Amino acid sequence: MVANRKESRQPPIMARRLIRIGSFLAIAIIVLLYWFWPWYLDETYIASLHAQDIDPWAVENWERLRGTVTPNVSAALIILAMDKDVDDVVDTISVFKNRFLGRVSNHYSWILFNDGHFSSDFRSKTSSAAYPNRVIYADNIAEATGILHPTHQKSIEHLYWGVPSWIDQELMKAKWETMPRERTNRLSYRHMCRFHSGLVYKHPALKGFDYVMRLDSGMLIHCDVDDMLDPFAEMARDNVAYGFGISMTDGMWSIPTLWSTTKAFIAHYNFVNPNDPIPRDKRLLDFISDDGGETFNTCHFWDNFEVVRVEFMQRPEVQEYFEWLDVAGGFFYERWGDAPVHTLCVVLFARHSEVRRLDHIAYTHHPETQCPQDIVTFQKGNCTCNPKKSFNKWWTCGHRWTNN
Ligand SMILES: *[C@@H]1O[C@H](CO)[C@@H](O)[C@H](O)[C@H]1NC(C)=O
Ligand SMILES: *[C@@H]1O[C@H](CO)[C@@H](O)[C@H](O)[C@H]1NC(C)=O
Repeated sequence: MVANRKESRQPPIMARRLIRIGSFLAIAIIVLLYWFWPWYLDETYIASLHAQDIDPWAVENWERLRGTVTPNVSAALIILAMDKDVDDVVDTISVFKNRFLGRVSNHYSWILFNDGHFSSDFRSKTSSAAYPNRVIYADNIAEATGILHPTHQKSIEHLYWGVPSWIDQELMKAKWETMPRERTNRLSYRHMCRFHSGLVYKHPALKGFDYVMRLDSGMLIHCDVDDMLDPFAEMARDNVAYGFGISMTDGMWSIPTLWSTTKAFIAHYNFVNPNDPIPRDKRLLDFISDDGGETFNTCHFWDNFEVVRVEFMQRPEVQEYFEWLDVAGGFFYERWGDAPVHTLCVVLFARHSEVRRLDHIAYTHHPETQCPQDIVTFQKGNCTCNPKKSFNKWWTCGHRWTNN
């Protein structure tokens, strides 16, 4: 009797297993397709947007708002890359070069950073891709030494790419063991985050540049950028210190003590500078906090594309904040990213009017894309991305931001 019942139950169990495996596979395939599908290549829909008639008044208004004043800004595009990334770097330089028209096309320089060495092959391929624009090769940064953080009286260290003497490396490795993701175990990733967070602005290659646009190798741009759409000129004209595209939340596991460390800095700073308290702008604070600064909601500017006024990041108070974070050790004990750190620099020291979302710069940093939602901007820029596929996933913070 018992055996019988067991036998009669076997097929449904098998069937249920198959259904379970089948639905798991189906979901996995859907997720994979969604993630890797080149959403920016929806040609018919994109062509129909370009064919759409727009009210001439809207175009006139757009032109009036964008203005034609284009200050002569000294700017550079920066990428941190390794020698083996040569094909991705050449792709990114070429795609940007093809899209940069007018004055933008030959005026701006590239700065390529590398902790190691750039080979002559890398140099010749990238410099011909960028020609006639200048390329500055800032490699071997791991070898640079100097005095780090004079205000903290810290000793001579590797300037850009070493584990500082005050970090307890045994403790650091023990802490990594408790973290949820495998890639957290990578020291080079932490060096990169710390470099982008604040050290890059100490590098002599940035001397003489008013603005820098940060990119990563492999990034693509989908709209033309002429003098009217030039983000550097726009930011200089409107006195903007920080420009971004996509914003999103972060994994709290990577920054558990970033906000408490920042609050300690705010208390210290406001004690020392009672007449110049931070944060300076409540609207910026409300972007990163739902409770007036009690907690951090992890909203941050996704800074693998960002445009920064160098002078802002080099201000003594901004560097002091970076040094405070660096001495606290969270770049190594945790995995503080440069994106939340830059966001907090901006929240503490900028005003809302000095921060701008650059909606019209359409780019893809895999797997996310930003594409203009405004039809005039889309047509004017000859965009080839799909506005419907612009980043708007549930973890976006874009709805929390308006430029005005
Ligand atoms: C802009 O600056 C560059 C170099 O700084 C210079 O060569 C160029 O002539 C300037 N253009 C204008 C229109 O002032
Ligand atoms: C879009 O393409 C047209 C035709 O090739 C060109 O004249 C125009 O300058 C381009 N738009 C921008 C913003 O560069």
